[in-house]
Amino acid sequence: MNQKQAPLYEALCTYVATKNEPLHVPGHKDGQVFDQEARRHFASILPIDATEVKGLDDLHHPEEAIAVAQQLAAEAFGAEQTFFLVGGTTAGNLAAALAVCRPGEQILVQRNAHKSVFNGLLLAGANPVFIAPEIEHETEVASCLHPSFIKKALQEYPDIRAVWLTNPSYYGMGMNLKEAAEICHTAGVPLLVDEAHGAHYGQAEVLPESALMCGADLVVQSTHKMLPAMTMASMLHVRGERIDRNRLATVLAMVQSSSPSYPLLASLDVARRYLVQEGREKLTESIERLEQAQIELSRHLQSVTIWSGAEGIYSRDPLKWVIRSTQSQVTGYQLLEWLEEEGCTAEMADPRNVVLVFAIDTDRQVIERAAQALSRIDRRLMQVEQTVAPVRTGNSASLWLNAGETSVPARPLQEAFHSSYLVVSLDKAIGCCCAEMVIPYPPGIPLLIPGEIITGRHVQMIVQIRESGGYFQGALDPAMKTIKILC
Ligand SMILES: Cc1ncc(COP(=O)(O)O)c(C=O)c1O
Repeated sequence: MNQKQAPLYEALCTYVATKNEPLHVPGHKDGQVFDQEARRHFASILPIDATEVKGLDDLHHPEEAIAVAQQLAAEAFGAEQTFFLVGGTTAGNLAAALAVCRPGEQILVQRNAHKSVFNGLLLAGANPVFIAPEIEHETEVASCLHPSFIKKALQEYPDIRAVWLTNPSYYGMGMNLKEAAEICHTAGVPLLVDEAHGAHYGQAEVLPESALMCGADLVVQSTHKMLPAMTMASMLHVRGERIDRNRLATVLAMVQSSSPSYPLLASLDVARRYLVQEGREKLTESIERLEQAQIELSRHLQSVTIWSGAEGIYSRDPLKWVIRSTQSQVTGYQLLEWLEEEGCTAEMADPRNVVLVFAIDTDRQVIERAAQALSRIDRRLMQVEQTVAPVRTGNSASLWLNAGETSVPARPLQEAFHSSYLVVSLDKAIGCCCAEMVIPYPPGIPLLIPGEIITGRHVQMIVQIRESGGYFQGALDPAMKTIKILC
């Protein structure tokens, strides 16, 4: 196919040029009716913020521009079929669960998954069997799974309907997906991959292979995270016969708006064109620069460490720098604040690390600015006396079982969500069954989900995250002084 075209964006340009009187929604009428002050920011985008009128196709029944744009994306990302998403990878994960699991069916899920995976399982009424991830010891974050764990779990639970992995992690750590896919297919089950953080994978030789290249059956990518699409614009890719695509299209229409945003959809179309036309080349050059800079920085930094890979971690995303204070004098949250003072806004922090995310086209100046900020923080850290005990993050990983061990919640997820609950103080909740999702944010991986037993370690961890500057989403009491438990 001709990857120079951007059919959906072009259809929108034609729509704008036609200058018909917009006697249809949206109410801003191509930008004519709008707040005066805000107009200067919105003015250029409103004319393409259109709706399903002639020539603009329909996301939920694509036959023209959207259909071709999706085919072009499928070709560029190595899928057989691609669905554009306007509700982020969140929408893709909800749909994936609903498409693959029927109520009561078992699915093997990597425990350190994003909350949208758990929400999908909840909506679908699926019964997850969780598999504990490995812990990367320098950064103390939950990382990936060794494929042999999956093989063992599939033997232990022969009724498993599908396997759902997250690769790469938010920290850019990855597993051997090819082997995982082979194991799944030998067992006759599809492999779903949440590749929210890896839309650029497989697009340059210096990068790890994409999940599709490794043989995954259904893959969701946040195109907006690592590729230049607008926020909330994601893609869901499918290959092979293991996924029922009609059912997938049906559930996608359930979890997504019936008025999907055209600027978001078109941003997927042009992000794909940019990637194929120039992004791939820039990606290779940018990675070379970043790797070189990381090596040089690591030589002279004394109190700051940039994670550079570890045994047991199969792959590392070179567009991410995971940074920590070498002696654990300060938390990741503190480093994030210092970076902010240096004029650099980082992606996220946890009790130990801070994560920087670079673009697929990163020039020398950007790298230089980050490097200077890190060098100044390094000097600042050298002045910090080790007056307090090193930060022990007790990262959420330590809450789970040993890597590869499986668990099932004490009560089924959906049943626990719908059951009556009590609110009790956190320290009184040990041994009780949790009735809500407790999600430190970022990274959005639930510490607890409805139906799981609250342990002393959970409580300790919640207090620790709260005290070191983290916050929680999803819980009734965002301060987490209290927690919902099942009656
Ligand atoms: C692993 C993972 N999956 C899914 C999501 C949800 O993606 P989106 O923001 O595109 O809805 C996130 C968001 O951070 C994530 O980290």
